[in-house]
Amino acid sequence: MQTTIDTSDKAIDLEERYGAHNYHPLPVVLAKGEGVYVWDVEGKKYFDFLSAYSAVNQGHCHPRIVNALKEQAETLTLTSRAFYNDVLGAYEKYVTGYFGFDKVLPMNTGAEAVETAIKICRKWGYEKKGVPENEARIIICENNFHGRTTTIVSFSSDENARKNFGPYTPGFIKIAYDDIDALEKVLESEKNVVGLLVEPIQGEAGVYTPAKDFVRRAQEACHRHDTLFIADEVQTGIARTGSLLACCGDCSCQEHCERQPTYTKPDILVLGKALSGGVYPVSAVLADDAVMNVIKPGQHGSTFGGNPLGCKVAIAALDVVKDEKLMVNARRLGEVFRERMQQLIEKTDLIKLVRGKGLLNAIVVNDGPASSTAWDLCVALKENGLLAKPTHGNIIRFAPPLVMTEDQLHECCDIIQKVVLGFKK
Ligand SMILES: Cc1ncc(COP(=O)(O)O)c(C=O)c1O
Repeated sequence: MQTTIDTSDKAIDLEERYGAHNYHPLPVVLAKGEGVYVWDVEGKKYFDFLSAYSAVNQGHCHPRIVNALKEQAETLTLTSRAFYNDVLGAYEKYVTGYFGFDKVLPMNTGAEAVETAIKICRKWGYEKKGVPENEARIIICENNFHGRTTTIVSFSSDENARKNFGPYTPGFIKIAYDDIDALEKVLESEKNVVGLLVEPIQGEAGVYTPAKDFVRRAQEACHRHDTLFIADEVQTGIARTGSLLACCGDCSCQEHCERQPTYTKPDILVLGKALSGGVYPVSAVLADDAVMNVIKPGQHGSTFGGNPLGCKVAIAALDVVKDEKLMVNARRLGEVFRERMQQLIEKTDLIKLVRGKGLLNAIVVNDGPASSTAWDLCVALKENGLLAKPTHGNIIRFAPPLVMTEDQLHECCDIIQKVVLGFKK
């Protein structure tokens, strides 16, 4: 059977005809990737300014990660957790040391890891906090994005993601994002609250960066009320925001270290995406023993979670982040990017503002969320060799691979400037 397709039109037709219509992609068909670049089927080269929603932080097809995959693929790929394998333990030691936790629970996708965190948090609530059976509640935020499972969409604010997928999972209390007073109020007044699940920066919602001290104050408030602080860093983690984690705050040290005063240690940390450099689905939940040890054999798992292939890929992906100093690069280039966008905003009415941290940024287009302006701009950017995608109507997220150089970033900013200044509605 022929598996590669030689024209973009043919590839799009096939997806339209045989694939469920659960996505609305930009009309570009990618066939190759290397570093910050991708190429379409016809051979046209683009800057990737989305990085598979921050999964490809290390750049496309990073040779060290691909080699780790190749070597392990020829040796042993999957054992299930019915048996031990000779890579998992080494990975667990490495990843717990890297992020500073006692234990890790390995999974595959981000949504699975969030589900895992919810299960651990509830179980901790019953067994350690003494919450009556089936009464545990977790606080979540307006405009959250934590994935697509039935439980997770139960507490989504996005009607399109949620409608007609009920009955919904109970046990969640919604508060406004970045609102410490609302959090304090719920913690004071509501019974049986066991956790706060929060993104330290809301990526999917449109790159909303909360007040500088929000994460720290949220964790402190949780701890005053014997409640777990759960950070979903599936999108923000692993150098994307210019620190190892968004929870690191302004710490820009090369290593992850708990000594930095700006670091807020979550009780449960949820990671995915760039944990594998986009090479293979690997996610993880990290916690210290007092929390993680509530999970006993038979109570959670996944056939593929912790497989030797994923573990080797994740070790290589994390090595690359450290060795190539991606945190420092993301931080420095993020500043350059926002400065360039700010200069652009002064020349046009089409863009209202730029916001973000490190290389997770967004521009807000001066049009209603229902308008097609952001989409049309992304199509025009594509025509000019740069791929980005709107999120929530009038917002365009810009998140290139963190291996980008400053010259490449300026080239990209020149493309964005040319497209924006030449754009006709
Ligand atoms: C913060 C956050 N959590 C969870 C997820 C879900 O990850 P996955 O798509 O791998 O299930 C995402 C995906 O965008 C995310 O941004």
